Amino acid sequence: MPRKKLKHFAEIKTFGNTFETPEEKAKISWKKYFGNKNPIVLELACGRGYYTIALGEKFPNKNFIGVDIKGHRIWSGAKKAFDAKMKNVAFIRHYVDELKSYFEKDEVDEIWITFPDPFPPAGKAKKRLTSPKFLEIYRKVLRPNGMIHLKTDNENLFKYSKKTMEDFCCGNEKCGFKMEEVLHDIHAKKPVPELLQITTHYEGMFIEEGRKINYLRAISLVDKTCSSGKTLRKAIKRTAKTTKKKPSKTSKGKS
Ligand SMILES: C[S@@+](CC[C@H](N)C(=O)[O-])C[C@H]1O[C@@H](n2cnc3c(N)ncnc32)[C@H](O)[C@@H]1O
Repeated sequence: MPRKKLKHFAEIKTFGNTFETPEEKAKISWKKYFGNKNPIVLELACGRGYYTIALGEKFPNKNFIGVDIKGHRIWSGAKKAFDAKMKNVAFIRHYVDELKSYFEKDEVDEIWITFPDPFPPAGKAKKRLTSPKFLEIYRKVLRPNGMIHLKTDNENLFKYSKKTMEDFCCGNEKCGFKMEEVLHDIHAKKPVPELLQITTHYEGMFIEEGRKINYLRAISLVDKTCSSGKTLRKAIKRTAKTTKKKPSKTSKGKS
């Protein structure tokens, strides 16, 4: 492994703002860590975490946590937040799959999923961060009526995500995900909605390449009379049918 990466991995541990294992996180609650009960907002697949930081600067009364598996990317954001002494920003260097080990039920208020890898082959649909497997994880940690925001340049992933969220439950209108806003080509809108003016690292590159950026916001509705196991199995079956057609490779994958 390059020496620079090893140096960054060692340095991350000294910042005190990045959790790398559930055991490390279990030693302190988020309330204690942040020193307040402010709403918790996650950015999943945060990469370098600059979006997490920008949101933290814009909304000082909320706590922001960026999650990504790639340590050398997380290092960039963690260092920036550490140098700026930001008290409302933290990072988790782990797989999103393990979110339940870092958060209690209903502990999270909002989730941003920014430019997730599209995983185009139908056989890899389960890895998409908006697949039923992940939506089920989000519903566990999100409070009822909590929000999911998605930003992506990939049309097929956008369609897939919207449909997967809409189909998530067993047809019960009080359960699953309710679309609040669906916007295509957000940077063509004048003025760009204020919340969407902040761009991520990849978003900046995609805009330069002339790609259109799409956004959706959905609310997580929970009806306790729904059996989520049954719901999930149904959702997975429905999604399998919709993923037979392969999304084209318009987005960059892991780098
Ligand atoms: C295309 S990059 C986007 C980075 C950032 N959101 C941006 O817009 O600049 C996708 C990121 O997702 C992360 N990722 C993909 N699957 C993941 C998973 N299951 N858990 C954690 N991170 C994941 C990758 O490590 C990568 O940094």
